Order: sequence, then C-alpha cells, then structure tokens
Amino acid sequence: MTTVTATAHPNIALVKYWGKRDLPLNLPAVPSLSLTLDGFETRTTVTWGADHDVFELDGVPADAKAAAKVFAFLDLIDPKRPPCKVVSANDFPTGAGLASSASAFAALALAASTARGDDVDPTRLSVLARQGSGSACRSLWGGFVEWRAGEHPDGVDSHGLPLAGPDHWDVSMVVAVVSTAHKPVGSTDGMERARLTSPLYDTWVAQAQGDVDVGRDAIFARDLDGLGRVMEASTYKMHATMHTSAPPLMYWQPASLACLHTVWALRAGGLSAWTTMDAGPQVKVLCRSADAATVADALRPHAMAVHMLRPGGPARIVS
Ligand code: DP6
Repeated sequence: MTTVTATAHPNIALVKYWGKRDLPLNLPAVPSLSLTLDGFETRTTVTWGADHDVFELDGVPADAKAAAKVFAFLDLIDPKRPPCKVVSANDFPTGAGLASSASAFAALALAASTARGDDVDPTRLSVLARQGSGSACRSLWGGFVEWRAGEHPDGVDSHGLPLAGPDHWDVSMVVAVVSTAHKPVGSTDGMERARLTSPLYDTWVAQAQGDVDVGRDAIFARDLDGLGRVMEASTYKMHATMHTSAPPLMYWQPASLACLHTVWALRAGGLSAWTTMDAGPQVKVLCRSADAATVADALRPHAMAVHMLRPGGPARIVS
C-alpha cells in the first residue's frame, strides 16, 4: 500500500479545444493553447492498495458517475490494479466552467502513477491525463502550453507541449465568477452536440490551426493585443458552434454579458484587456498584471467573486 498526494492547477485555453476526432480517447479535432493558473488548485491523494474502491470529492463521497470515471481512469493505469482510495479537493468551484476536470485528471494521473511506482515523465502523464479529460493534458506543465491535435489513431502524439514557463510574461487572468451552479451540459456532451449539429463546426475546425499559430507567435513575442485578439476570435467561434447546435447550447448568463461589455468598454478606453469564456458562465480576462486590479474593480459589481490569477507552475508531488 502506497499513498501519494499531488497537486495541479487548472488551465484556461487561449485558443480553444472543442470537438473530438475520437471520443473514448479524447483525441481532439483541433489543436489548442493554454495558460496554467496559479491560485486555484486540485489536491488529490491516492492510496494504491485499499480495502475497496473509494472516491471522495470535496469532503463527501462522490456521485456514482464521477466515481465510475475515476475508477475507469485508474484501470487505464493498471487493469489488474488493487482497490484504491482517492481523496480529491478543489479550492474553487467544481464543474462550473473553471477547468476543474483539467486540474483533477492531471493531479490524479501524477498521484496514481507515482503511487504505483510508474515512470512519471510529464509527456507520458499528459497522454494518460488526456484520456480522463482532454484539457487535463495541458495541466501537467506550468505557464503556456500547446496541445497538438496529433495524427496517430492511438493518441500517442496528442499531448501537451510546454511553450514558456510561468515567468515568461507578467500577465494575469482575472476570473469573474457569476454562478457556481453545476453546468447543465458538460463539455463532452456539448462538443459532441456541436460536432453533430452545428453548421459552423467544420469552419471552426478548419480555422483552429491558424489560430494556434498566431497565438503561439504572440506568446513568444509577448504581444498581448495579438494574443488577446486571437483568444477572443477562438472563444466566440467556439461559442458560435454552441449557439448554433440543435438544441442550442448557451452557457452565458445575463451577468456574463454584463462582464463582457464592461471589459470591452475598458478596452475602448485604452486598456489592453481581453475576454474569454469556456463551457460555463464565468468570464475570464487576460491583461497585464499591473492592470488586473483595475479590471477586477470594474467586474466586481456584476460578479459573485472576482479572482486575480497569475501564471501557475506544473503538477507536482507534495507528499
Ligand atoms: C471549453 O477537457 O473538459 O474548456 O475532453 O470531454 O473532458 P473532455 O472536455 P474538457 O473540455 C474543455 C473545453 C473548453 C476549452 C478548452 O479548455 O480548451
């Protein structure tokens, strides 16, 4: 019996992953870029060799669906594994469009593989974490990360690739939490709905590589306006595939729109602040760290909570 605790931060996509070319393996139809964020964290303890399988999430036994997902993930690591105990906690809202599945499966891949005594090379763990939740493959690393779509049918070349560490660029992501309700349609179902029904889906896929190329150059050049422009373009193309799905998928709440307009007004006033949203109502704003407090103050009247997050580090073992 070995017990290991690991932590990982969520990452927010700068150029989005939305759509799969292989559902069971979480192989993406598009490449993506992300920023790992400090300040929010998942902490997961795995006991490899317990009396029976147990999964506790945020202090209570997890629901059957979440537990089945975690135990199936452990089966990927070792189909003949012993019963395991997994205790996981997020210090931020779970399942609300704040990338909790990304930090969750990155921390779980690292803790469980270490507890089993496996090779914990981050690229190998990234391939593994991707099979729990696609975006998790980017949370093994800190800072700016690319996820190439890859070509192999088994997904061996579909993993995160670190582009620049957290100290590369002093930017912040200001997160306006407008609702902590669990999202009604999860990412997996939402992206399948878009793939199967949105008339915009093929265009979305066709333009993704170009957006990633522009975004990568902007990251290396520390060009905030360039990165912000392509991040907003990717964000609203992705949401357009959601809005034009059948039935339509609309994660935005009135307060989300109020936040978006607030940021666009700041930008019209000369501040370089750029919006993004994922599969949830929260609004995230990329800006210079020196401007984060100004952005946060402007968002506060519309939000339940506002967080100012800097680039974060990689997934790591804590004990
Ligand atoms: C909108 O990684 O949660 O946040 O692979 O089905 O688990 P699954 O989906 P997930 O999707 C994330 C979608 C997104 C955009 C992104 O993070 O790139």
